[in-house]
Amino acid sequence: MTKKLSPILAIDTSCDETSTAVTVGTTVLANIIASQTQLHAPYGGVYPTIAKQAHQENIDQTIQVALKRAQLSWSAIQAIAVTQGPGLAPALEVGIARAKQLTTQYQKPLIAVNHLEGHLVSIFAQPRPQNWRQLSAQQRLDRENHYLATFSFPALGLIVSGGHTEFILINQLGQYQVLGQTIDDAAGECLDKVGRMLNLGYPAGPVIEQFAKKGDATAFEFPLPMTTSDDFNLSFSGLKTYARNLITKLETANQLDQQAVYNFAASFQKAVFRHICYKLNKILKEQKWQTNSPKQPKTLAKPSQNNQQLWLGGGVAANLKLRQMLRATLKPYKLKLQTPYNKKLCMDNAAMIGIAAGFTLQRGKVVKAIEKLQRRPRYNL
Ligand code: KG4
Ligand code: ZN
Repeated sequence: MTKKLSPILAIDTSCDETSTAVTVGTTVLANIIASQTQLHAPYGGVYPTIAKQAHQENIDQTIQVALKRAQLSWSAIQAIAVTQGPGLAPALEVGIARAKQLTTQYQKPLIAVNHLEGHLVSIFAQPRPQNWRQLSAQQRLDRENHYLATFSFPALGLIVSGGHTEFILINQLGQYQVLGQTIDDAAGECLDKVGRMLNLGYPAGPVIEQFAKKGDATAFEFPLPMTTSDDFNLSFSGLKTYARNLITKLETANQLDQQAVYNFAASFQKAVFRHICYKLNKILKEQKWQTNSPKQPKTLAKPSQNNQQLWLGGGVAANLKLRQMLRATLKPYKLKLQTPYNKKLCMDNAAMIGIAAGFTLQRGKVVKAIEKLQRRPRYNL
């Protein structure tokens, strides 16, 4: 239960999007993203020094536009939030430096946020209602608490992005346990790399989704990875190697025409998502979502309980085929899929950082020694 709602200005510069948002609890007043995709496309991936420079060039404008869009001045902002990690070190540094400077200049508390927690709580985001400005502080608070009551704990989290693929047990907000994660590439990274082999540009994930709609997902068969491992970890590098060999074979035989590329996209996308669903099913089938460590088993209420949820976040969460396959996997266990309300909230954005910061602020956790706050490029949940 939230006791007070505070407008938060949040900044995320973890990778290749410069983003500033203004949030009040879970309500998004502004979520501005300056994308660097075009700058990195020629390199087929994110180029750290270019990312840093572009963040430096764009950050002030995203802050100004976010405040304007939110129709708030600095005096109304109650706290500043920034992504501490994980992410690219030079990129994180730009957001942290600016957040520190603003915190000192405007005398606001600073909240450091784990980018992965941001992706997890992105499902909470709600758009600003039309009558927002007419609502009193109490009405906004009542609305928030009513909304929060629709989410239940423990919940299962799934982050699928270009940098991460992991299952998380959410005991409470702020209490997370990683149940399983990729031991090599992330799912988005795997889609991007195979897309690159097919000359689909960068990032290839969204293109693969579109191509897959025109293709036959049964045209090519791919192996299902990690079926003999007894844990909830994932691995995508075998699928990538299999794809590379298949592409070479098709090219050599002159069989990679446009329809074959569509079929390949559909079949490969399905293989990547099938692997995720297989491991999700394994977690649910064991009827207890437990940690990898036998020392601290965490047995949860049976999945047949009402209103159990899977929270889905990260760039690949925008993919409708993934959502469809996840829903089918969850159905027998009566779990409900929770997704962010728009695609912008799936990709890297500062609104999710503001929402995570709002929950952190409720727990009274602000940065004590602001000048000592350091980026954490390998920050785990
Ligand atoms: O969350 P995100 O914006 O950045 C990271 O934190 O990694 O995720 C980017 C990843 C990229 O790999 C991109 O190809 C993938 O998300 N992606 C998609 C889709 N939209 C973005 N993958 C599949 N289908 C999509 N519609
Ligand atoms: Zn991300």
